[in-house]
Amino acid sequence: MKPQKLTTKIFLDGGNPAETAELIKILGFLDGQTTNPTLISKNPEIRKHLEKGGRFTEVELLSFYRDVVGTLSSLLPEGSVSIEVYGDLSSSVESMLIQGKEMFSWIPNGHIKFPISHAGLKAAELAVRDGLRVNMTLCFSQEQAAAVYAATKEGRKGSVFISPFVGRLDDRGENGMDLIANILGMYKNGDGHVEVLTASVRHMNHFLYALKLGTDIVTAPYALLKEWGRQGLPLPGDDYRYAAGSLRPIPYHEIDLSRNWKEYDILSDLTEKGMIMFTKDWNSLTQ
Ligand code: E4P
Repeated sequence: MKPQKLTTKIFLDGGNPAETAELIKILGFLDGQTTNPTLISKNPEIRKHLEKGGRFTEVELLSFYRDVVGTLSSLLPEGSVSIEVYGDLSSSVESMLIQGKEMFSWIPNGHIKFPISHAGLKAAELAVRDGLRVNMTLCFSQEQAAAVYAATKEGRKGSVFISPFVGRLDDRGENGMDLIANILGMYKNGDGHVEVLTASVRHMNHFLYALKLGTDIVTAPYALLKEWGRQGLPLPGDDYRYAAGSLRPIPYHEIDLSRNWKEYDILSDLTEKGMIMFTKDWNSLTQ
């Protein structure tokens, strides 16, 4: 059962519905799931097919993705399932929007993941205007979060998520959890239409500190959530302190949320690297 005091939504980060079903049994609840091309490429059925020397056509792969999210959706009928569009550095607004609309039609409870690039933001702006729910992914800066807020102003609470990737910031020596605190702080000045989804969670302290900070949603890998279940779903107490060790702090910036989204500096090498990696993992299944 979900602990009464727990207001954060708990999502599984993965591409294997068998783990989702298992986790629902272990935790007694699950609020949703995030997927991405890399996670789908690790699905056991995909791996088995590849090990036998098989490859997929684009159509087969999309149909596989659709089946996976269909199963996730039926396991989590009250929750949300994030589905990611294929977006590399040259992908156009139109291509991402067409994919997003198609994927949104797959299940009744989807959120479409667009990268926080110029094309991804424009696609999201149009998608939200058309009534789609979105999850803006590969967030590595407070400015990007301001741009997401501004681009999706026509959304309402529940229709827009933003996914800051804490682990990948840690990987390069920056304290990724500071970005969560900073975005939550900045959004306090807003209308609440964007929910912060802490992503790229690598260990229990990321997870517990995200709860302590009051993130709206946290997504974590199967092994971590299984361990949390084994420990009896502990929550961080008043005395909980996050040990950032030698990670460099990320300072908070005062940012006006009322500007046009195109005025924010959204460039991030990590966003670009992330887009390249996701599409590379996807392409590796078809070549
Ligand atoms: C979730 O939406 C993200 O795609 C995921 O958490 C990324 O995690 P990683 O940095 O461990 O790949």
